[in-house]
Amino acid sequence: MNAENPLIPKFRSSLYSRTTITELMIPSYANFGGKIHGGILLSLIDKVAYACASKHAGAYCVTVSVDTVDFLQPVEVGELVSLKASVNYVGNTSLVVGIKVIAENVKDGLVKHTNTSYVTMVAKGDNDKPQRVPGLILESKTEVRRFAEAIKRKELKFSHKAEMDEARSELDTTSALDMLQNERCEIRMKDEH
Ligand SMILES: CC(C)(COP(=O)(O)OP(=O)(O)OC[C@H]1O[C@@H](n2cnc3c(N)ncnc32)[C@H](O)[C@@H]1OP(=O)(O)O)[C@@H](O)C(=O)NCCC(=O)NCCS
Repeated sequence: MNAENPLIPKFRSSLYSRTTITELMIPSYANFGGKIHGGILLSLIDKVAYACASKHAGAYCVTVSVDTVDFLQPVEVGELVSLKASVNYVGNTSLVVGIKVIAENVKDGLVKHTNTSYVTMVAKGDNDKPQRVPGLILESKTEVRRFAEAIKRKELKFSHKAEMDEARSELDTTSALDMLQNERCEIRMKDEH
């Protein structure tokens, strides 16, 4: 049991918090091209991630980071969108929720995979400070793989950030102008105030 809250166990399975939200794509969700706005899907992703993470944590959670949101196929008005979320990884106060988004055409039964995203959430205690979350019981090869992949993704993200910081520190106006020579831009620099 958790020392701060005896109602929260030390470990929980991902089954305990597995969450699915299904929502009908109504016309007011569409953009001018008649397809569903990306922002509608992002909002649903955040919602299902919150539901799943807070259930595992037994606490309120905040979104820290959303990884890999690539919209692979457009979603149409009238389709049923389902977001399947499960906790893939837990750290100390953070947890990663994996979310698979599928869209189903109810008339022909066609189902398409629109994207998979990984949302990092942090549990917060009543004092608004990050709070320790229960560990994760891994009950299948898939769950072991997802946990290990989340660690790899975290490592790659931090090394990418370090590389990007270094690249930014090395990039001055002269080298930036050099880089832009064959790009589709026109340089019309004005004095900055
Ligand atoms: C998330 C937040 C609590 C982190 O605060 P902090 O002082 O950096 O706390 P810590 O350094 O102790 O980090 C807490 C956890 O977040 C993780 N974390 C912090 N920044 C991260 C990032 N960019 N990506 C992934 N994980 C991150 C840390 O690794 C740590 O995980 P762990 O406890 O499992 O090891 C703080 O940045 C915050 O409140 N952000 C606003 C979140 C919010 O309001 N979201 C809604 C969008 S408006």
